[in-house]
Amino acid sequence: MKVAVLGANGQLGHDVASVFAAEGNTVSALTHEHVEAASLESVQAALQGVRPDLVINTAAFHHVEKCESDPALAFAVNASGARNLAQVTERLRAPLIHISTDYVFNGAKNSPYTEEDQPLPLNVYGNSKLSGEYFVRSINPRHYVVRVSAIYGENPCRAKGGLNFVELMLKLSREREELRVVDDEFVTPTPTLQVAQQLLELGRSQEYGLYHATAEGQCSWYEFAAAIFDMTGTRVRLERARPGEFPAKVPRPKYSVLENQELKRRSMNVFTAWQEGLSRYLAQRQAAVA
Ligand SMILES: NC(=O)c1ccc[n+]([C@@H]2O[C@H](COP(=O)([O-])OP(=O)(O)OC[C@H]3O[C@@H](n4cnc5c(N)ncnc54)[C@H](OP(=O)(O)O)[C@@H]3O)[C@@H](O)[C@H]2O)c1
Repeated sequence: MKVAVLGANGQLGHDVASVFAAEGNTVSALTHEHVEAASLESVQAALQGVRPDLVINTAAFHHVEKCESDPALAFAVNASGARNLAQVTERLRAPLIHISTDYVFNGAKNSPYTEEDQPLPLNVYGNSKLSGEYFVRSINPRHYVVRVSAIYGENPCRAKGGLNFVELMLKLSREREELRVVDDEFVTPTPTLQVAQQLLELGRSQEYGLYHATAEGQCSWYEFAAAIFDMTGTRVRLERARPGEFPAKVPRPKYSVLENQELKRRSMNVFTAWQEGLSRYLAQRQAAVA
């Protein structure tokens, strides 16, 4: 297949491009330099040249605080950008995998969110991504809208300026004697490599629809940090932050755990427990420096 990946130098896009190329697909790795998602003309020019069999959009403006202070840009990229991709892929008769987020939910549920749960975003980022989902779902019938959560991978997250949570914790543990991490925000840490492998399965399936795609289980950020230090044998004093110790500038869901109900229903779920994903990531990281 000819596969076009937008955001190909991002954290997720890098692994998506690698995994699809390793399977023998011809991958057009499109970065922001090649295509501006917010411009219909730019999307048209980039994709018409490729004539792809599948388009995967990992590109987004997803720095939560910056989205809040620049809602016009957030909607231009995450909503109109998704609309542009949906329109162009629909005209090309190409399926579109569009990446979305757990932040479409408000976190009030306290048990894992399924694809049937009603979204109600708390912030501009979540609202702009939800709007993008609706454009994709209503314009291109050959869509896979895939919500991911708390992703981390070998390639740095460009929007968050470098280190993923695992690397940040390991760096801070070398610089400080004590670390304080929030224990009242629950997610499912998910390696980008597993997301990319899941997209490979989905892309072959022609089972179009809305999907949750995260590792299995859940933890607080404190519990995630504890597992990182435990698995790497890192000695550092780790404490739970007091409620309100790190006040969020923008409202965020306290609980955004997703259940991969639709993947499981179709026997397509490739994800492992989050602890196993972390263990594999740490082993690959170790192998890379050895
Ligand atoms: N990171 C998370 O924990 C997380 C959680 C839930 C959902 N998600 C979703 O997962 C997806 C991938 O996230 P990620 O962590 O891989 O992000 P990332 O590392 O920041 O990569 C995003 C990519 O999109 C590109 N991009 C930004 N604006 C663009 C535009 N207007 N036109 C074209 N390209 C543009 C960026 O290029 P430049 O940097 O050069 O602008 C970058 O290559 C996003 O859809 C995000 O909403 C992420």
